[in-house]
Amino acid sequence: MTEFSRQSKVAFLGAGKVGGSLALALANAGYPVVAVASRTPASAHTFAARIDGCTAYQSYQGAADVSDVAFVTTSDDAIGPVAASVVWRQGQAVVHCSGAASLDLFDGPKSQGAVPGAFHPLQAFSSVENGVKSIPGTTFSIEAGDDIRPYLEQMAHDIGANPIFLKAEDKVLYHLSGVLMGNLLTCLVGIAGGVWEHIGYTRAEGVKALVPMMRAVADNIEASGIPDAVAGPYPRGDVGTIRKHLEALRERDPGLLPLYCELALAGLPQAVERGLDEDTAEEISLMIKTYR
Ligand SMILES: NC(=O)c1ccc[n+]([C@@H]2O[C@H](COP(=O)([O-])OP(=O)(O)OC[C@H]3O[C@@H](n4cnc5c(N)ncnc54)[C@H](OP(=O)(O)O)[C@@H]3O)[C@@H](O)[C@H]2O)c1
Repeated sequence: MTEFSRQSKVAFLGAGKVGGSLALALANAGYPVVAVASRTPASAHTFAARIDGCTAYQSYQGAADVSDVAFVTTSDDAIGPVAASVVWRQGQAVVHCSGAASLDLFDGPKSQGAVPGAFHPLQAFSSVENGVKSIPGTTFSIEAGDDIRPYLEQMAHDIGANPIFLKAEDKVLYHLSGVLMGNLLTCLVGIAGGVWEHIGYTRAEGVKALVPMMRAVADNIEASGIPDAVAGPYPRGDVGTIRKHLEALRERDPGLLPLYCELALAGLPQAVERGLDEDTAEEISLMIKTYR
C-alpha cells in the first residue's frame, strides 16, 4: 500500500478559487505544492507565482507526473475528462474537491492503479484571498479508502480544518445542506434586501442594513445552537404581528408571499422547540395556510 505523508509532492490540475486557496493553505502548512496546470496558462502562472517552489506546467500530464498527490480542482463537469486525459502511475493519488460527486469519477485512474479520494470544503470560496482565510475552522468531508484516508485527515488538521467522513450515498444530501446554507441563504439575503425597494431604498441599502443582523444571528447560533438562537415573532407567538406580515405581503409584494409562508411553516417546529405552545403554533399554521 502506498504511504502518503507531509513530504508527498502535491500538484493541482485546475487553477481556480478552491485549488488556489487550498494550495496556499497547504504550502503555508509546509506541504510541498510543486506543480500546477490549468486550461488557461495564465491561471496556472498566477497560481504558481503565489507559491514558492511551484511550477506551472503546460499540460495536466506534466504537472501530474511530478506529483505523488494530484488534486483535480476544475469545475465539476471537467473533473472526469481532465482526470481521464492523464496517464496515472500505480499508487499515485488523485483527489477532487467536489461535494456532490463521488469517487466513481476516478474509475479510470483507479483502473490504472491510482488511489482516488475526495476532499470537499464545506465553505463558499469567492476568491483565493478570501478562500485561504476561511479555511481554518471549515469542515472538510473526506471520501476515501484506507490507503489515503489518514493522509487527508491529517491534511485537514494541518490546515486548521475539521475533517468528517462520508459514504458515497450520503454525499448529495450533505452537499445540498451546504447549498441551502451558502448559495440559497445568499439568495434569501438578496430577497430580504429587495423588500427595501418597496420602502424607498435600494436592495443594496437593504442588504447593507441586514448583514450586521445576519452576523449576529450566526454568532447566536454558534453560541447557543438551534433552537435557543431562534428569535422573533414566531417563538414569541405574536400572532397579530405575523398576520400583519401576511397582509403586507399580499398587498405590496405578493410574489414573496409563498416563500415567506413556506419558510415560516418549515420553521414552526423550531419555534415550538424554543417554547411556543402547541395551540398557538397550530393557530399560526392555520392562518399562514389561508394566505399561501
Ligand atoms: N467555489 C466554491 O465555493 C466551492 C466550494 C466547495 C467545493 N468547490 C469545488 O471545487 C472545485 C473547483 O471549484 P472552483 O469554485 O474553484 O471553480 P473555479 O474558480 O471556477 O475554477 C475552476 C477552474 O477549472 C478550470 N476549468 C473550468 N472549466 C474547465 C474545463 N471545461 N476544462 C478544463 N478546465 C476547466 C478553469 O481553469 P482556467 O482558469 O485555467 O480556465 C478554472 O480556473 C469544484 O469541484 C467545486 O465543486 C467549490
